Amino acid sequence: MYCTKKISDDLIWVGANDRRLAMFEGVYSVPKGVSYNSYLLQDEKTALLDTVDKAVAHRFLENLLHALDGRKLDYLIVQHMEPDHSAGLCDLLARYPDMKIVCNQKTLAFIQQFHDVEIASRVHIVGEGDTLNTGRHTLRFVMAPMVHWPEVMVTYDATDKILFSADGFGCFGALNGALFADEVDFSRDYMDEARRYYANIVGKYGTQVETLLDKAASLEINMICPLHGFVWRQNIQSILAKYRLWSTYEPEEKGVMIAYASVYGNTENAAEILAANLRGQGIKTVMFDVSVTPASEIVAAAFRWSHLVFASTTYNAGVFVTMEALISDLAAHNIQNRTVAIIENGSWAPTSGGLIREKLEKCKNINFLENTVSLKSALKTEQLADIDSMAGAIAATLPSQAVKTAATSAAPDTVDPMTMFKLSYGLFVLTARDGDKDNGCIINTAVQITENPRRISVAVNKANLTHDMILKTGAFAVSILTESAPFAVFERFGFHSGRDTDKFGGYATDSRTAGGVRYLPEYTNGVIAGKVTESFDYGTHTLFIADVTQAFVLSKEPSATYQYYFDNIKPKPQVPKEHKEGFVCKICGYVYEGDTLPDDYICPLCKHGISDFEKL
Ligand code: FEO
Repeated sequence: MYCTKKISDDLIWVGANDRRLAMFEGVYSVPKGVSYNSYLLQDEKTALLDTVDKAVAHRFLENLLHALDGRKLDYLIVQHMEPDHSAGLCDLLARYPDMKIVCNQKTLAFIQQFHDVEIASRVHIVGEGDTLNTGRHTLRFVMAPMVHWPEVMVTYDATDKILFSADGFGCFGALNGALFADEVDFSRDYMDEARRYYANIVGKYGTQVETLLDKAASLEINMICPLHGFVWRQNIQSILAKYRLWSTYEPEEKGVMIAYASVYGNTENAAEILAANLRGQGIKTVMFDVSVTPASEIVAAAFRWSHLVFASTTYNAGVFVTMEALISDLAAHNIQNRTVAIIENGSWAPTSGGLIREKLEKCKNINFLENTVSLKSALKTEQLADIDSMAGAIAATLPSQAVKTAATSAAPDTVDPMTMFKLSYGLFVLTARDGDKDNGCIINTAVQITENPRRISVAVNKANLTHDMILKTGAFAVSILTESAPFAVFERFGFHSGRDTDKFGGYATDSRTAGGVRYLPEYTNGVIAGKVTESFDYGTHTLFIADVTQAFVLSKEPSATYQYYFDNIKPKPQVPKEHKEGFVCKICGYVYEGDTLPDDYICPLCKHGISDFEKL
C-alpha cells in the first residue's frame, strides 16, 4: 500500500524508509534507520527528482504510481547517481518509454558505468544554470560536484523557491511518520544524526560544500528537500548555519572530546583522571572508548568539539588498532582547526603518541599541545602532575564554563535602578516597513537568545510607530550602531515620532534587506533581519522573538555601547542658567519644568518614564 506525503499542491514525497539496514554504505551503522527521499512534481509535465535504494524500491514504486494517478512520467531528474538514489532508474526507463532523463554529462557517464542501458537518445543534458520548464514550474540546475560525488547537482524550483539539495542537508534516521524538520524536536533528537551524516558523508569536501552554500546564499529559499532525512520549511537558517560551521571545520562548541583506546583499563584510567580534572575547572568533556563506539560517532563528535584528546596504548609497535582506524578516518575526513593533546601508553616502548601526531600533522591548523603524557603501563602518582599540566594547557586555551555562585552575603536587598545602567547594552536602529512606509527607532534591547535556531529578541516601547509596524508585519531589521554614529542619528531616530516625521527623509541611500526593510548603511557595522515568531506583552513594551533571516557585517568599527553613547556622543544636559525647578531626562537630556513630575509622565523625546528623570 502506498504511503506518500504531500508537500505542496503539486509536490509529493514518494520516498521510503529502511529500518532494517545495519550498515549504510557498508560502514555507517544506522540504528534509527534511514530515509530515501524522492519527490514527484505534478505539473503540466511530471518530473521525478531521483529514485531510491533497491531495498525500498517496491514501496517507492507503489508510492510513485499512486502519486502519478495514471499519468505518465515525463522527466526523471537524476541529481545524484549513487545507487541508493538511482536503483529505480532502469525500471522507470522500461515503464515509461517516453520519459527523458535529465542529468549532467558526468551523470550520464555514471549511468552507463552502473547499467548496461543505451540511453543516449533519452537524456536531456543540463549544465550550470540551465533550466527546465514543466508548466508552472521553472527548475534551475546548480552543479554541486563532490557534495558527495562528482556528478552531484542540485535543483532550484524558482517558482516555489524550493531547493532540492541532493545529499546536502541530509540526515540519518527514518522519518517515523513526519516529513518536515519542524514536526520533530530536531535539535534534541536528530542534530547528532545530521552531524554524523554530514561529517562522514561529505565532511571531507568542506570546500565544495562552501561553494554550494555560497550559491544557495544568492537564492531565496522557502524549503530544502534533501535526499535523506527531513524537509526544511522553517528555521532554514539554523541548518544553513550548522553547515557553514561544519564546512569550514569550525567547532560548534568549546569543550574537550576525549577518545581512548585501552586494553587493560590503564589508558582509560588516565583519560578519566584528565576528564575529571577538566570538569573540575568547569570545562565540558565527552568521552569515547574507540573500541566500543562506532568511529562515525566519534568523527561526528570531533566535528563538534574544539579540543580533541587522543589516549592510546601502543600495540604491535604502532597505535592500537581501533585508535589507528579512528585517526585515519579523521584525517580522511579532513578534520581541521582543532587543539589536540595526546596521552600515550606502552609497557616497554610507548610510541603511539608520536605516531598519532605524525598522522594528524597532515591536517590543517592543528594546534598540538606539547604536554604529551607518556605512561609505562599505568599512571603513577608522580605523573598526576603531568595530567595536571595537560589539563592546565587545555584550560589555558578555553574559557572556563564553570557556573560560579556569586557571594550574596553582603549584597543589599534593594533594587537600585542605577544598576540597570551597568548592563552592557548596545545601541541599534530598529527599522520596519509597512507598505510604502519606512520607519525606525533607537533601541538598546536587541539580544541574541539562541544559536540554534538563531534567534534574537527586541523589546520595543509601544509608543513607537515602529512597534506597531512590527506587530503588523512581523518583520524588522536591526542596524548595529558604531562609535562613530553622531548624535544626529540618535536625534533623527530617537527623538521624533514616525507618525509625523519621515525618519528616512533626505537619506541619499535606499539600502534594504532581502525582505525589503530599510536599514542604515552608515554608522552601522552589521545588520540583522528578523522574522517574528512570538511576541509578549509587557505593559509599556512588547518583547518580539524573531528568527534571524539575514545577517551581514558592514564594517570592523566597534559597536557603540550604551556607556559609550553617554560618555562620548550624547551632549551633556544643559542646565538652565537661571535655576528653575524641574527634572532632566537621563536618557536624552529633555528638561521638564515644574516642581513635581506626574507619575505617568513619559519623555516626549525618547519615551522613557519618570524613573529615568532626575531632579535639576
Ligand atoms: Fe545517499 Fe551520496 O548518497
